[in-house]
Amino acid sequence: MQALTYETIKIEKEDGITWLILNRPEKRNAMSPQLHADCNDALFHLATDPETKVLILTGAGDAYCAGQDLKLFFRGTEGKPRERFEASENSHSWRWQRLSRFPKPTIAMVNGFCFGGGFVHMIACDLAMAAEEATFGLSEVNWGIIPGGSVSWNVVDVLNMRNAMWYAMTGDPFDGKMAAQIGLVNRAVPLEKLREETVELAKKLMTKNPMALRYTKEAIRAVRGMNEAQASDYLASKTDALRYRDPEKGRETALAQFVDEKLYRPGLEGYLRDKPKT
Ligand code: COA
Repeated sequence: MQALTYETIKIEKEDGITWLILNRPEKRNAMSPQLHADCNDALFHLATDPETKVLILTGAGDAYCAGQDLKLFFRGTEGKPRERFEASENSHSWRWQRLSRFPKPTIAMVNGFCFGGGFVHMIACDLAMAAEEATFGLSEVNWGIIPGGSVSWNVVDVLNMRNAMWYAMTGDPFDGKMAAQIGLVNRAVPLEKLREETVELAKKLMTKNPMALRYTKEAIRAVRGMNEAQASDYLASKTDALRYRDPEKGRETALAQFVDEKLYRPGLEGYLRDKPKT
């Protein structure tokens, strides 16, 4: 695939990991209309890029993302309905639709400030790692608006009601350790270890069957809005679809390796994906 180059983001690839780096460090990676357009385009191309096995989303410099760019996204599109519409469409498309439905595993690596609209793409990622020193905040109330776009909807998806209310109503900033404690991110580690630990997580994901991983993440997201009967039916169909679609036929190989060949213990480890079928 041709190298992807953009004005406001950087795409870097290494050993199956693709880094999507928000790259406006002088503005703490606040999201301008151009950044939304760039991210939207990049995710479209990366979704089918064979070199991208895991996507990590992070920010350049000492911020992850300071939310929407108050000057360029809000004030800059006032009285310009076409520009506002385009910016909003791109903003919603990449931060939620393209990212939450991305066919490979996604990890948000929160290296610093994460405010307001930055919560959407952080939550849209399947997993999130944060620096203990990172600063999070639902700061909207501090400047007289509500956590709009889809922020409130995203936040109640991962936080309990008490914590969602607390941070949305007070606008209080909190650190990475607190983010992990309330379940907003999976883990918080010292900043100096953040990259290493995030890469380790990405490498672990790359050892798994890619199609099984894709179907797993789709299933976990989809069943949240279903009742038990719907979920049972959906999961049965999804299970069948995976058996049909999985190019490495993992289920059959894994069953044979455990039941017949006694090669591994699925409770403790993955099956041997590189071993030729017998
Ligand atoms: N929109 C537009 N510009 C922003 C921005 C945002 N969300 N966040 C930061 N910037 C800009 C600042 O205006 C400043 O630009 P300038 O150098 O042209 O003056 C630059 O980024 C650096 O910001 P500054 O406030 O000087 O840096 P800091 O390190 O002291 O503080 C923050 C960083 C993120 C705490 C602070 O900039 C801030 O509170 N930003 C707003 C965060 C927010 O509430 N976002 C929610 C939006 S929905």
